[in-house]
Amino acid sequence: QVDRAIRPQSLAEYIGQPVVKEQMDIFMQAARQRGEPLDHSLIFGPPGLGKTTLANIIANEMGAEIKTTSGPVLERAGDLAALLTNLEEGDVLFIDEIHRLSPAIEEVLYPAMEDYQIDIMIGEGPAARSIKIDIPPFTLVGATTRAGLLTSPLRDRFGIVQRLEFYDVESLTTIVKRSASKLGVDLDGPGCFEVARRSRGTPRIANRLLRRVRDVAQVGGDLIVGQKVAQRALDMLSVDSQGFDHLDRRMLLTMIEKFDGRPVGLDSIAAAVGEDKDTIEDVIEPFLIQQGFVIRTPRGRQVTKRAYEHFDYQLPQDFE
Ligand code: ADE
Repeated sequence: QVDRAIRPQSLAEYIGQPVVKEQMDIFMQAARQRGEPLDHSLIFGPPGLGKTTLANIIANEMGAEIKTTSGPVLERAGDLAALLTNLEEGDVLFIDEIHRLSPAIEEVLYPAMEDYQIDIMIGEGPAARSIKIDIPPFTLVGATTRAGLLTSPLRDRFGIVQRLEFYDVESLTTIVKRSASKLGVDLDGPGCFEVARRSRGTPRIANRLLRRVRDVAQVGGDLIVGQKVAQRALDMLSVDSQGFDHLDRRMLLTMIEKFDGRPVGLDSIAAAVGEDKDTIEDVIEPFLIQQGFVIRTPRGRQVTKRAYEHFDYQLPQDFE
C-alpha cells in the first residue's frame, strides 16, 4: 500500500489522539517491564483514523511481529487455528473488522484469549473428541468501526479498549506537514492548513488530498505550493469549505429537501440517498454528527440549523 512510506512507526511519531497515546504508552511500558505481552486491545472508531497504524505501532513498540487478518477473511475455524498456532511468544495478531467474525470462529478465539489454548475437534461421529493445544502468549488487537457491533462475550475479553476520535485541524495540519515532507512536496503552512481543514478530521483523507494537491501543482507547474493551489485541487475534487464530499452533501440535502428537516429513520435515509445503511452509519454520519450538522433524536436523525446555513437554505417555518 502507498501509505506505508508515510505511516508513523512509533508512538512518538504518532500525532493527535493524546488520550490514547498517553494510556498506550503506560500500558506498553508496564507490560515490557514485566516481560509480558500487552493485554488484548480493542481499537474502535470511524475509518481512516489510524486503527491499523496503531496496531502496527503496538507491535513495533513491543518488539514483536504482527500478523494481520480481517473478520470476513477468516472463513473456517481452522483458518484462525492455523494463525494462532504459528505465532511466536509476544506476537500481535491484528484482526481488522473484528465484528465480522462468524460465531464458530469467535468460539475459537475465547479460550485463545483467556488461556492461550485452542480446542480442536478431531475425528467425526461417536469417535470425535476435542484436544486442547497450547499457543504462545500473544496480544490480540481487534479493530472495528463501532464497539457496539461486537458481541458482549468478545468485547469483555479485551483488557484495553481505545476509541479513536476525529482529529482537530491543528493535529491534522501537523500530519499534513509531516506527510508532505516525507513525499517531498514543498507545501507551505497555509497550504497544509487548507488540506487539513477540509479532510473530515481524518488523516487518511488528508494524505489522499495531499497527493492530489501535489498532482495539481506538478501539472500546473506551480513552484510555490500554497493555499491557492490547495484550494484549486480541493475545489476540483468537490470537497467543500467544511470538508464535506458529495456523499456528505447528498445525505444532508436529502434530509433537507426530501424530509423537510424532520427526524427520519436510518432506513429511510439509506433508501433515499441510495447508500447502504452501514456506510451511512459508519462512514458518513459520524463526522456530520461530530460537526453538529446532524443529531440523533429518539425519532430518528435530524439535520440542524447549521446544515441549512451551510447550503444557504431557508429554515422551514415549523423547524424544531
Ligand atoms: N499519518 C496518518 N495518521 C497519522 C498520525 N496519527 N500521526 C502521524 N502521521 C500520521
